[in-house]
Amino acid sequence: MNAREHEARHLLHVYGQLPIEPDGADGVYLKCGKRRIIDLYGGHAVAALGYGHPDMLRALNEQAKSIFFQSNAVAMEVRAEAADALAGFAPDGLDHVFFANSGAEANENALRLACRLTGRTRVAAVTHGFHGRTAAAGAVTWGARDKWYGFPNTPFDVDFINRDEVGDVDGKISGETAAVIVELVQGLAGAYDLDPAFVAALAARCAAVGALLIVDEVQTGMGRCGQPFATNLYNVKPDILTTAKSLAGGFPCAAVICTGAIAAATGNGDLGSTFGGGPLACALVKTVINVIERDQLMRNVRIMSGYLEARCPVGPVEGIQGKGFLVGLRCRRPAAVVRDELLDRDILVGTSADPNVIRLLPPLITEERHLTRLIDCLADLPAR
Ligand SMILES: Cc1ncc(COP(=O)(O)O)c(C=O)c1O
Repeated sequence: MNAREHEARHLLHVYGQLPIEPDGADGVYLKCGKRRIIDLYGGHAVAALGYGHPDMLRALNEQAKSIFFQSNAVAMEVRAEAADALAGFAPDGLDHVFFANSGAEANENALRLACRLTGRTRVAAVTHGFHGRTAAAGAVTWGARDKWYGFPNTPFDVDFINRDEVGDVDGKISGETAAVIVELVQGLAGAYDLDPAFVAALAARCAAVGALLIVDEVQTGMGRCGQPFATNLYNVKPDILTTAKSLAGGFPCAAVICTGAIAAATGNGDLGSTFGGGPLACALVKTVINVIERDQLMRNVRIMSGYLEARCPVGPVEGIQGKGFLVGLRCRRPAAVVRDELLDRDILVGTSADPNVIRLLPPLITEERHLTRLIDCLADLPAR
């Protein structure tokens, strides 16, 4: 029995799975027996430093030996240092942190803060955005209600603003709107980077009516776009930024990062989590930020994504979108077919909600030779 068959015994069948079973991983490679597969999908944008990074292993080992777990009922230096590091890495003005465990949980808490602080009952989101599968995060996820939402009601009324339609902004954000939540580069939608004019219109309307701007950087954050956060590229000032995935490089961890004004209005008991801010996760947050900065990985992302852009279109790829290492390759043929053909050649890429867009979310340590392999393989595939 292989692992897929074994999993099917007692796990709910809720995931479509790839036809590989890795038995090890190292750098940007997954090992499957004798096969070495270049992982340009990074476990859904999680493996920021690749696999088995020595600094991560050291930090985890040292922290595990020292104190494996304590909750937020006691203060811990490692948690304070992780928050210092994240506040220093985040865009100016976002300097207070609440640690959670997943992207959806971070968004859930950000939306809760917005509703509590404004006392308002509506939230606006952008069409094609994805924010997670919990009650509030799912409510602001485009298409969820028709597909998988499942709850009888949403916790607030939601207005979806048509993506990149500046003319739709003012009508959908009003004095009743607690917050607008937006992915600046929509990941699941196929690495679709929003028009800066649309993002500027969202920010301006939020400021005009007193709605909070929540930027969901669960996928775009932690250096993936070649800057600490996509916010750095868009010249906006969110009230709240959420991040997860790469934050601790593979250890479950998420964060709500907010302004001093929001922090000042938030008090004891307003938010909480048992595992959020646990010492193992915090040791890794510090390490991920330290390695990104020490090894100039955002510079690597900028150079490597420029290389990829210069070599595209190629083979079935007719266009490229996204920012940094959140890349969408628009194909003339179905993305799932191209993904399977690449996997046959030992390159792992992802698909997206757009049936013609392949998604790349490579580790930030990915080198030119790995991308050259991708480009050479694409060039060998049928163009149409
Ligand atoms: C932009 C964005 N927000 C939120 C989430 C939800 O994160 P999680 O799966 O950690 O709950 C995801 C996950 O793919 C995401 O891409």
